[in-house]
Amino acid sequence: MFLKFFPTPLLFLLLCSLSTILADYDADPTRSTMEQFSGYPTQEPDSVSSFSVDAVSSFSVDAQGLQKQIDELSNFSDTPSPSVTRILYSKMDVFARRYIKNLMGLSGLSIREDAVGNIFGRWEGYEPELTAVATGSHIDAIPYSGKYDGVVGVLGAIEAINVLRRSGFKPRRSLEVILFTSEEPTRFGISCLGSRLLAGNEALMKSLETVVDSQNISFFDAARAAGYANDEEDLPSVFLKKGSYSAFVELHIEQGPILEEEGISIGIVTAIAAPASIKVDFEGNGGHAGAVLMPNRNDAGLAAAELALAVEKHVLESGSIDTVGTVGILELHPGAINSIPSKSHLEIDTRDINEMRRNTVIEKTHQSAITIAKNRGVRLSEFKIINQDPPALSDKSITKAMQAASQELNLSHKLMISRAYHDSLFMARISPMGMIFIPCYKGYSHKPEEYASIEDIANGVKVLALTLTKLSLY
Ligand code: GLV
Ligand code: MN
Ligand code: MN
Repeated sequence: MFLKFFPTPLLFLLLCSLSTILADYDADPTRSTMEQFSGYPTQEPDSVSSFSVDAVSSFSVDAQGLQKQIDELSNFSDTPSPSVTRILYSKMDVFARRYIKNLMGLSGLSIREDAVGNIFGRWEGYEPELTAVATGSHIDAIPYSGKYDGVVGVLGAIEAINVLRRSGFKPRRSLEVILFTSEEPTRFGISCLGSRLLAGNEALMKSLETVVDSQNISFFDAARAAGYANDEEDLPSVFLKKGSYSAFVELHIEQGPILEEEGISIGIVTAIAAPASIKVDFEGNGGHAGAVLMPNRNDAGLAAAELALAVEKHVLESGSIDTVGTVGILELHPGAINSIPSKSHLEIDTRDINEMRRNTVIEKTHQSAITIAKNRGVRLSEFKIINQDPPALSDKSITKAMQAASQELNLSHKLMISRAYHDSLFMARISPMGMIFIPCYKGYSHKPEEYASIEDIANGVKVLALTLTKLSLY
């Protein structure tokens, strides 16, 4: 019935590869393990049709326009170019959101915003009662970050919609572009805030009632200043039911060096590593840096320094290259050169593709914090695990669709793991999920040197567009 909406060459290739995808929907998802998804195919991908020349040419990405948008968006920043700093609900975040909503409108998407500012742009399918296929990412940026992290997955998704419109495609299932609120934990210490809430995280909803930022501004005051959360009672309306989408696909820069080093255009993500973050506070007596002799000190700063080294030790003890740990925040109070720190605050990020190994690092770090506090005569006033998430597996049928799309576009591709977390980690709880990676310069990310070529971005947009067609027609 959808035949009349589709140009012939494109239709041909979609039908050819669709059978591969449909066959896989029968697969038992419980058979999927991290090992299976370790980044190496356990079997050759099924053969798929070749892409006809006509259909390839109908997929034209406006590379120049997309680069211009990436550059323009990067100007909404609290730090000078080439760095980008765009913090949740800040003025720059609000301007950037407006910019995206404008583009969504120009692409003919109907826009909805939820109570925390997740933004949805919908292209209605010709069977609108079916669950939609979604794609998207984030535009918030950590301090002194780059201009591609997340942005490629939002602007790229809007451009994928434009590509499909230009090609004459008509979606069967509706297609939605999602801009997720606060993927980065910068302001309130909570990563993937928007997607965690979409996935129905009630504990998070409760904790938002009391959470404040470093300036003591509450989550709700900050949200209201940006035009959201006018009614605190509205928060449960953000939750989406499991099965709200038939598929979710996120396009993102790799944030690692593999694709560039191996000269491969497309990474097909099979699993996302398990992240955790912890906040620690030590309290000592402080005092005069000259007058208090060394044996009489209870230095909270040194306790923090010792714990930072302990994190590194416990991570290395795991024996796996996949275990990582970072102390990205270490603050001393009162912060004067001639005052012994009376308080210290650390924020620890640790991840692994193996959840148990990651949990062992957390337990050992906790033990170390207790021992260090005892030995140094300081108080461990807080050891709070902010999040301790399990890993997520991509859905095999979506992985297959992405592989088929790459193949039909004649783009080299490989299966790989995402060591960074993404909103996809939480979308996987309510929808089958997949991610498309593109190469980035030297794997740089979370710093101003982050860069992806427009050719690589355009390839990612094409793979996303073609994948969306397959998922939309299913
Ligand atoms: C995402 O920004 C991450 O830290 O992995
Ligand atoms: Mn990031
Ligand atoms: Mn990101």
